[in-house]
Amino acid sequence: MKKQTLHTIQALKHKGEPISVLTAYDSTFAKLISETGVEIILIGDSLGNVIQGQDSTVPVSMKDMCYHTTCVARGNKGALLIADMPYMSYATEKQTLKNAAKLMQSGANMVKLEGGEWLTESIRKLTERGIPVCGHLGLTPQSVDALGGYKVQGRDKAAAEKLEADAMALQDAGVSLIVFECVPKDLATRLTQKLQVATIGIGAGNQTDGQVLVLQDMLGLNDDFQPKFVRNFMAEPGVQSIKDAIEAYVKSVKDRSFPSESHTFD
Ligand code: KIV
Repeated sequence: MKKQTLHTIQALKHKGEPISVLTAYDSTFAKLISETGVEIILIGDSLGNVIQGQDSTVPVSMKDMCYHTTCVARGNKGALLIADMPYMSYATEKQTLKNAAKLMQSGANMVKLEGGEWLTESIRKLTERGIPVCGHLGLTPQSVDALGGYKVQGRDKAAAEKLEADAMALQDAGVSLIVFECVPKDLATRLTQKLQVATIGIGAGNQTDGQVLVLQDMLGLNDDFQPKFVRNFMAEPGVQSIKDAIEAYVKSVKDRSFPSESHTFD
């Protein structure tokens, strides 16, 4: 696969070609995923759940994120690497710059922060200094306690208006991408049409500019709890290996057959 950059990703939005994104936390999977044509690898703080066995992403540290970003960067063959800034690593502007620099030095091409309007000054400072930023709106797992659990966001009028205002504020501040997690399909579709920057959905319907899933979820390894928006690609007809499952995921993202209505919130 040719090397992915901000420009190749933005070009996919303009062409209307869906962008495929998967999480990875180690070198072996980073190599396999990038060689299978996934354009973006997210070193998600979901590693707290799927690697460390924690109940949430809150315990994940900068040290953890830098370690896994380094591992992924060693195996990666051309995907754009986004690293999550973990819980409380971007509470102040000073902390944000220092910690984002550490993730970039570990091999990330972009950092991801959860939150809306309150982050705009930090995002400006990062982008002015040449650090690309991905926003994350809707269900933001680092705020699970404040949100009262893992729930769909933006369902009523006021919440939808707030989400829209946050998305526009993030774009104005300079983000290159926005993840929408657990947002009703109609809202995610409308915002995708309105925004110039590409949107990546997880539980946000099939009309966002791209899709992301946690690797372990799409490989059917999380049998304790399967969120509505997850499809187990290992269980697809004809899939006999992890590589086949990742190829099936990329194909289903590209032809928009994933996510289907059964994986979507309204
Ligand atoms: O941490 C993560 O894996 C994420 C995705 C679920 C979007 O933020």
